[in-house]
Amino acid sequence: MRVLRSVAELDDALGPARRRGDLVGLVPTMGALHDGHLSLVRRSAARAAVTVVSVFVNPLQFGPGEDFDAYPRDLDRDVALLAPAGADLVFAPAAAAFTPPGARTTVHVAGVTERLEGASRPGHFDGVATIVAKLLLAVRPRVAFFGEKDYQQLVVVRTMVADLGLGVEVVGCPVVREPDGLAMSSRNAYLSAEQRRQAPALHRALVAAAAGWGGDADRARALLAGSLAGAPGIRVDNAEVVDPGPFERLEGPGDGPARALGAAYVGATRLIDTLAL
Ligand code: PAF
Repeated sequence: MRVLRSVAELDDALGPARRRGDLVGLVPTMGALHDGHLSLVRRSAARAAVTVVSVFVNPLQFGPGEDFDAYPRDLDRDVALLAPAGADLVFAPAAAAFTPPGARTTVHVAGVTERLEGASRPGHFDGVATIVAKLLLAVRPRVAFFGEKDYQQLVVVRTMVADLGLGVEVVGCPVVREPDGLAMSSRNAYLSAEQRRQAPALHRALVAAAAGWGGDADRARALLAGSLAGAPGIRVDNAEVVDPGPFERLEGPGDGPARALGAAYVGATRLIDTLAL
């Protein structure tokens, strides 16, 4: 498996595939890979002639006091997992070159980035959109794969790609879960044994909302809040029911699509999860 450290190396490696017009797929990651990431890689490998996986812990999407320094980094382990999943190339750019100090350009997607995760983590989605735009421009894939666990991120990326006319198909892939329902996340590694036992309450609350909402978004929100309020060790940051297209808060009864999302602290670890209702 080749690990490419710069856009120039990437251009060299992808040159023949680009000239042939082969379908290139991109799976953007921050490393610390788990089965959720590998499911995206398998999806890409099933469709694309060449699957590029980017591994870059993006400093732009971490706020002050967040876990940028602590974020797990083990490129050798990631590369060992990627080959059997069907990846062809790993793009792991050096931070100094890929996010040069003094850069003045930011990609900001208005509206959707101001709610929920955007409200809790100011600037987070500007960091995500900026780096995803840079990755798409560097790799120039025809299709890119993102996990639905970060559902709001998926909507931000889709909106950016449409608005900028980047010509990439954005594919959202289902959340991959542990047997007890906990959504796979690189941050699960931060949990103590007791916190790990408490963490699936976030998923159980989403399941309770999906089971009992009866088409009423207010009822879904109440079920979600009620279930989370009684969960030991869980401190809710946000819990909401939205129309997944425009990502706007839903009110009362309706028959359109709906999605529940939650973010909660288990100890100092912030976890997010989501379920279609
Ligand atoms: O979902 C992630 O891991 C990151 O937000 C992404 C899309 C790789 C951008 O840094």
